[in-house]
Amino acid sequence: MKIIESPAEMQRFAETARLRGEKIALVPTMGYLHEGHLSLMREGRRRASVLAASVFVNPTQFGPREDLASYPRDLQRDCRLMETVPVDVVFAPRPESMYLAGAQTWVEVTELTRGLCGAARPGHFRGVTTVVAKLFNIVKPHLALFGAKDYQQLCAIRQMVRDLNFDVEIVPMPTVREDDGLAMSSRNTYLSPAERTAALSLSRGLEAARRAFVRGERSSTVLAAAARRELEREQGVGVEYVEVRDAISLQEIAAVSAPAVVAVAARVGGTRLIDNIVLEPVPK
Ligand code: PAJ
Repeated sequence: MKIIESPAEMQRFAETARLRGEKIALVPTMGYLHEGHLSLMREGRRRASVLAASVFVNPTQFGPREDLASYPRDLQRDCRLMETVPVDVVFAPRPESMYLAGAQTWVEVTELTRGLCGAARPGHFRGVTTVVAKLFNIVKPHLALFGAKDYQQLCAIRQMVRDLNFDVEIVPMPTVREDDGLAMSSRNTYLSPAERTAALSLSRGLEAARRAFVRGERSSTVLAAAARRELEREQGVGVEYVEVRDAISLQEIAAVSAPAVVAVAARVGGTRLIDNIVLEPVPK
């Protein structure tokens, strides 16, 4: 497995691979890998001849009061896990080589990033789409895999690819959960055992909404209330939002008549967690 730090060297590697006729898959990550990341990598392995993964804790997507400094990092451990896939090339740049002094260009998806997480994290998605655009230009992938766990991020990246004519296929991947339902996240390492238990209210809430939906409930307000009840039952969980939105446009909807996403964000102790499920009405 090759490890590349320099963007220029990564571009040369990618160009050479393309000239050989290889198909390149990219899995962008911020490292501290778990089974969710690895599921994306295994699928990338299956679909391409060269599998690239990036490990970069992207400073521009963190707000001033967020966890950039404390975000867990362990490249050695990540490399051991990536060897098992196996990943062919790891792009792990230094922040100063990704953002040269005086950089002043941003990629911003407007509408889709206004609500949900965008409301509480101004500038976050602008940082995400900017770094992903840069990664596409550096790693030159034919396809890139993203998890539905970060649902709004996936929507924003698809929109960016469409709006800016990136020649990259976006492959969405299902959320990988722990056996008890907790969505895997690098930030779960922040949770104390008591907080870990309280955090289960996110997936429980989403399951409550799903059960109501399966029973025939279609009102967004009622479905969201079913999820919110589970979250509010738990001490030490601060709900940021519980929303039912159109699964593609992320617009608010009064009732579910087409695929919809139920999305939640909550603080458990000092840790902000997100989760979601998609509800699909069967066409009559
Ligand atoms: P990170 O949180 O490290 O996630 C990297 C990729 O793994 C994303 O596509 C994310 O949706 C996916 N992922 C995370 N947890 C998952 C889970 N439980 N199941 C399935 N997929 C999961 O998302 C980012 O990094 C960054 O914003 C990034 C896109 C790399 C840009 O900096």
